[in-house]
Amino acid sequence: MIPFNKPYFSGNEINYIRQAIDSGCISGNGEFTKKCHYFFKERYGFKNCLLATSCTDALEMASILLDVKNGDEVIIPSYTFVSTANPFVLRGAKIVFADSNPLNPNIDADKIEELITPRTKAIVPVHYAGIASDMDKIMAIAGKYNLFVVEDAAQSIESYHKNRPIGSIGHLAAFSFHETKNIVCGEGGMLVINDERFKKRAEIIWEKGTSRAEFFRGEVDKYGWKDIGSSFLPSDLIAAFLFAQLENIEDIQAKRKQIWQLYDDGLKKLEVKGFVKLPYIPEYATNNSHLFYILCENQKIRDGLLSFLKSKQIRAVFHYLPLHKSDFYSETHGDRQLPWCDSYSECLIRLPIYCELSGEKVKEIISCIYKYFECRL
Ligand SMILES: Cc1ncc(COP(=O)(O)O)c(C=O)c1O
Repeated sequence: MIPFNKPYFSGNEINYIRQAIDSGCISGNGEFTKKCHYFFKERYGFKNCLLATSCTDALEMASILLDVKNGDEVIIPSYTFVSTANPFVLRGAKIVFADSNPLNPNIDADKIEELITPRTKAIVPVHYAGIASDMDKIMAIAGKYNLFVVEDAAQSIESYHKNRPIGSIGHLAAFSFHETKNIVCGEGGMLVINDERFKKRAEIIWEKGTSRAEFFRGEVDKYGWKDIGSSFLPSDLIAAFLFAQLENIEDIQAKRKQIWQLYDDGLKKLEVKGFVKLPYIPEYATNNSHLFYILCENQKIRDGLLSFLKSKQIRAVFHYLPLHKSDFYSETHGDRQLPWCDSYSECLIRLPIYCELSGEKVKEIISCIYKYFECRL
């Protein structure tokens, strides 16, 4: 079976974990955590970033930082993972689901304004497949109504909106280093704090609501309980693993890009013939090759293709189920229709993409897809 995903180990992960062990300091905010923070500052210009135990937790930190409370409303696309919504629901917010746009699964920025009420607190765009949402429009709406923007950048490391790195545009942003992402550490994430007003409090929330980070920098002579918070910081063993990956980001990205391009070139003819649609990348966005998806005409064809590929030992997968129709939230959402979200949920397939996937295997996958559609001619 060709798997859908396979975490890539770039070589130094075990060595750095060993170094952390030998240093005698493996709890959070240690040397490797600092090295990772420095890497992100240097490479993307993120002024303030904090490694987190997951992107979900980074979003929970964001929700606490924004003081989200009962009655607040947060606008998010319905076509996303539950983690975009849960951190805000946990603090009492009502989620107002937005539709995707017709060209790609990202939030339809032209439909956000009609969802705003006096209770709206934040917009949380998701950069699906690492392809930027329309941040100019989203930031302009946020400015007009005095709202916060939290970028769900779970899939978006090394991706840009115009010339700005994703994650540097909203007031806050959250990344994932889960094993399914481009850069991995098993479970891990990061909060980026672009709005300086949140800088100090973010560090306190990160360290169980205490001033421990300040204490270890020698800025205070003892540390104590300052705020609500949790244990959002990962062990330095995790940071050591992550740092090995970050050092190899160019190599990892080059490998993924090659695979992505093979799919895109190889499947173009099917798109021209009208059988599928390939990823649409707006002119303001770059592509980090996080995933390669194709859109089938309807769910029947999509499910047929998934089964056909499975019969050929290829593990392709669909993606999100609409959150506005979920068991947990459909009643609260009501019957407002989100047709583009439904359509992406029914018609989208993700193809295997991981560093070790050979060009031969990619060609084999492409030719199986052609075989499936040939039967339909
Ligand atoms: C859009 C989106 N947001 C958040 C997450 C959660 O990331 P993590 O597993 O690091 O908590 C994911 C995970 O795949 C995701 O796809």
